[in-house]
Amino acid sequence: MKELRVGIFGLGRGGAFVGNSINNGGKIVAFCEKREDQLFGLKEMYGEDTGVYTDFDEFIHHPGLDVVFIANFFNEHAACAIKALELGINVISECLSNVTMAEAVALVRAQQKSSALYQMLENYPYNVDTQEIARVYKNGTLGKALYCEGEYNHSIAKNGPANETNYMRKYHEHWRNHTPRTYYITHSIGPLMYITGATPKKVSAMPVYYPEGDDMFGPDVRDRAAIITTLNDDDSVFRVTGCSGFGGDCSGWRICCDKGQMETVRGSERHVALHYSKAFVPEGLEEHNTYKAVWNDPDEEKIKVASHEGSDFIAVRDCFDAIRGIKEPVFDVYRATTMSSVAILGHRSILNGCIPYDIPDFHNEEDLKKYENDHDTPFYDSFGGKPTIPASSR
Ligand SMILES: NC(=O)c1ccc[n+]([C@@H]2O[C@H](COP(=O)([O-])OP(=O)(O)OC[C@H]3O[C@@H](n4cnc5c(N)ncnc54)[C@H](O)[C@@H]3O)[C@@H](O)[C@H]2O)c1
Repeated sequence: MKELRVGIFGLGRGGAFVGNSINNGGKIVAFCEKREDQLFGLKEMYGEDTGVYTDFDEFIHHPGLDVVFIANFFNEHAACAIKALELGINVISECLSNVTMAEAVALVRAQQKSSALYQMLENYPYNVDTQEIARVYKNGTLGKALYCEGEYNHSIAKNGPANETNYMRKYHEHWRNHTPRTYYITHSIGPLMYITGATPKKVSAMPVYYPEGDDMFGPDVRDRAAIITTLNDDDSVFRVTGCSGFGGDCSGWRICCDKGQMETVRGSERHVALHYSKAFVPEGLEEHNTYKAVWNDPDEEKIKVASHEGSDFIAVRDCFDAIRGIKEPVFDVYRATTMSSVAILGHRSILNGCIPYDIPDFHNEEDLKKYENDHDTPFYDSFGGKPTIPASSR
């Protein structure tokens, strides 16, 4: 297995990629984080020649980087990913790949010119229960997916006391105070795209307006969820929530097919429910089955100690395998920017009376041209940029 020389940008979420890279044949050679206290002791831990930077432009020129994890602020990934691609460095980006349509175009064009590979890392398809749904769907007994649901819910309870929540949101301009519900989409839609292979072609969305109380996205985001519907290239329909802030800390994914349906069981310890029409029950199964999903993976020992209940390990493994040329990338630049288009145009739908928008196909020059100057954003950025559209429906 070829060793990959890894750099990590952003040491909040980015910290999770250290062990998962090492366990997948990576060597950590550089870190970049502007909070200097987070850099303390890294040279002692990873070797004197480890690059420790507070400035991205210096970090990205660290000698011999094969791959960088982009885990800085949610709304500032694309420009950094583009710089890495221009230098021929493989990119694994946290969600979302981009927060404006113009950034999507720039990212696709950078990928088209680069010798390196862009991938967005989305870990929810790699939970043990969504992996089990993917396995059953692939074996064909359920038939074809017609309608699927994805709900990623991050209740206030998950973060505990308000001071911890405030730590996540840090200050008024921080991205978590300005993230429209549709924008945090990858955890709800990613598993559905992964399981079924379908690509959204049209989106519309409705807000769940509830300005009371407080949750992860802060009082400026006055909707508690976005109910997003996509019509897909294979005629299936998805209904997803983006990131909802409902009470009760549980999420769920469901696929409905012509011969049966399958879903994760909310609040269980990763159980799944599998239902067949009487005429299509496979040998050895019942019409209705509920069971605990298990890994069945040769790397189970590494999965067991990995963050996010093991899903981060497999997500990194798939990304590294694609860089090594062993596997096709799961969320390449086209699938990543499709997701971001659902997020951005879904919010645009909410702001414009819930009308539908076509999702561009960025393989086509015409669609790239259409959006290359579309810079609308609900975010503040670190360079003085201010929101041009609201983050909430009202
Ligand atoms: N997949 C998951 O389950 C999951 C979980 C948490 C976060 N995330 C994603 O990971 C990303 C980061 O999330 P977070 O919670 O760590 O966010 P955060 O805002 O808390 O942290 C971002 C970190 O990046 C650093 N940073 C930002 N700009 C920088 C710059 N120019 N130079 C140096 N350092 C810089 C910040 O100092 C901070 O430590 C987001 O995109 C988020 O959506 C994903």
